[in-house]
Amino acid sequence: MSKPEPTAPVTADLLIPQHVAIIMDGNGRWAAARGLPRGEGHRRGVEALRKTVRAAIELGIGYLTIFSFSSENWSRPAAEVSDLLGLLRLFIRNDLKDLHRSQVRVRVIGERDDLTPDVRSLLEEAEEMTRDNRKVTLVVAFNYGSRQEIARAARRVAQQVAAGEITPEAIDADLIGRHLDAPDLPDPDLVIRTSGELRLSNFLLWQSAYSELVFVPTYWPDFDRATLEGAIAEYCRRERRFGGLAVRAGS
Ligand code: FPP
Repeated sequence: MSKPEPTAPVTADLLIPQHVAIIMDGNGRWAAARGLPRGEGHRRGVEALRKTVRAAIELGIGYLTIFSFSSENWSRPAAEVSDLLGLLRLFIRNDLKDLHRSQVRVRVIGERDDLTPDVRSLLEEAEEMTRDNRKVTLVVAFNYGSRQEIARAARRVAQQVAAGEITPEAIDADLIGRHLDAPDLPDPDLVIRTSGELRLSNFLLWQSAYSELVFVPTYWPDFDRATLEGAIAEYCRRERRFGGLAVRAGS
């Protein structure tokens, strides 16, 4: 499957990256700083997500990937896990029509088999309803871990070898990439992590091989269009080399 050609809309002085991926971190600390329960931080996090999707539409970002629940998040207290699942349900139930009206296509990456049938069918409904939309693709990473995704891809390739469909010599990076959860999407140009933490935490490890990483101190509930534009401005100052000679970010 061929990947879409990169496009780089220009807004004011910013060259807009085609694909922005965000690790939305700091909800708990945002809440703790205000003496509020962690759940309130997650609720305000959903507000920030709405604002960010709107900003992505306005700025002409083609793909926005959000890390909304990691494979490791199941180890949080049961009440918090249930809060996060509840927020996902609410987000899809309340926002799906608006997203659809705004021409947002929803895609989901992550392991679906462990999810309850109601959550699974909500995710499928969101993908189905919005499948022909072309303005922005919102990729929801849910029950997602990058090592697990790569292991799933390797398992699918191993099955093809075992079935005699391909030889081991046919395995290369391109083939593995074609068995990831959303192989038709372009790699992220820019990965942003909020809250000042400086790591990827098992997010898009394969796809971000050549992404620019921008870390912002803002806790996720305070993230807005201005913070996004600040991260994009930082991205525009980077030189991307892809292992070769310098290319200006966004070009
Ligand atoms: C990290 O904050 C954030 C998450 C684990 C989940 C992100 C979820 C949302 C923004 C809301 C839910 C949105 C959907 C669509 C389900 P943290 O709790 O790790 O913060 P901390 O590091 O300060 O404790």
